[in-house]
Amino acid sequence: MNGDTLKIQGLSGEKKLKGEIVIGGAKNAVLPLMAASFLFSDEFVLENVPDIEDVKRMCELLAELGVTTKKLGDHEYSIDTASATGTALESEISKKFRASIILSGPLLARFGKVSFPHPGGCVIGARPIDVFIEGFEKMGGEISTDGKNYIVTAKNGKLSGTEIFFKLPSVTATETFIMAGVLAEGKTVLRNVAMEPEIEDLANYLNSCGAKITGAGTPTIEIEGIGMLVTSGKKYVTMPDRIEAGSFLILGSLCAEDLLIKKCEPKHLDALTVELVRAGVPIEIGADYFHIKGNLAPNSSFKSFNIKTHEYPGFPTDIQAPASIFLTQSSGDAEVFETIFENRLNYANDLVSMGADIKLWGAHTMTIKGPAILKGKELYGPDIRAGLALVIAALVAKGESLIHNVYYIDRGYENIEGKLRSIGAGIERLQ
Ligand code: EPU
Repeated sequence: MNGDTLKIQGLSGEKKLKGEIVIGGAKNAVLPLMAASFLFSDEFVLENVPDIEDVKRMCELLAELGVTTKKLGDHEYSIDTASATGTALESEISKKFRASIILSGPLLARFGKVSFPHPGGCVIGARPIDVFIEGFEKMGGEISTDGKNYIVTAKNGKLSGTEIFFKLPSVTATETFIMAGVLAEGKTVLRNVAMEPEIEDLANYLNSCGAKITGAGTPTIEIEGIGMLVTSGKKYVTMPDRIEAGSFLILGSLCAEDLLIKKCEPKHLDALTVELVRAGVPIEIGADYFHIKGNLAPNSSFKSFNIKTHEYPGFPTDIQAPASIFLTQSSGDAEVFETIFENRLNYANDLVSMGADIKLWGAHTMTIKGPAILKGKELYGPDIRAGLALVIAALVAKGESLIHNVYYIDRGYENIEGKLRSIGAGIERLQ
């Protein structure tokens, strides 16, 4: 067991939820920005920081490195790295979340040395770090290990700008090498990089503080090494979490008659909304909101669609599990092809135990035949996104469900039960 349990009253396929959900700051944007604090010579203030477990782990990791982190108020933090003393990432905390590895780039670039264990995170696949290791070597890093940790040392204490071709477009590796490039000597060119909006957001903020980064949001990024940046009091406001917004959009499609999803960035979710609209969900798409209204037809009137996960702007792997719940309720046969991670259909058997008609064809592919009547069950959420998908399944289902391992959901979603209760869901946290 990992964390609390959610007790959820199913709606038996009825669309009874109603109200508004305000989307919080993006986990996968704020974590790299917290790591970017090592690029600033002055205090750095972040706003709209989600109150989630991964942010707490990042604060703990920074504290272990001697960094001063203060919670200034609701969703607002300051980070000052002037007092930083260490370059070794604490092992137990690092193993709790994969994003810990993003600290490796700025630490190595600033202090000429970093050590870290193989980072942890969700059990969604092998998650190697070869792109990081090869990149550090190309920038002049020497790699060794003490059996438990990777130790990377920059020759002459400084990384050198160079050209790095990524064998695959890793999101956190792209962020890591953007940050390393800012403090490296000379120009760094990154090719075949990821194009996720969180990367552009990072580059935009760093540029606003004096960095010279071009091409973020395209497959090639160039960074002029210019040394330490100064925020001069310019705060970073965390961009809205597109995965939280997409998850609530799916929940609203299946369980709400009327739902307003506010303070989000709809253009980041085109790959999902194109499918939901085509499936028949009545969604109004605004500049910063989604409004599902007049959603009274039964879910079986929605048409199924196939999913093939892809790097941005394709269908996000982080939305694959919630979207599969939609496919258990809509009509038709759908194929789900997970191309990014090896173990991200790890929730399929749970759905089958609830009554879904799913055939798994291996680690990457499954077919879902809908619509199926789901029944409430006692389940163990396997990771952040699949955990939330099971919550959506439990709300759709008939009867009561218990979802254990809520720590995983808490890693990425703030106050999930509060948000769901505010729109009428019967949900309770058992500690
Ligand atoms: N990969 C390698 N070698 C590497 C790095 C990655 O083979 O050195 C592989 C991975 O194993 C995977 C693929 O490359 O098969 C893509 O992984 P990527 O590195 O892009 O993932 P990540 O950077 O570790 C981020 C998000 C994930 C999200 C993925 C894909 C953060 C902190 N995490 O992970 O978010 O699923 O990109 O979009 O930004 C989540 O929030 O639930 C989550 C898992």
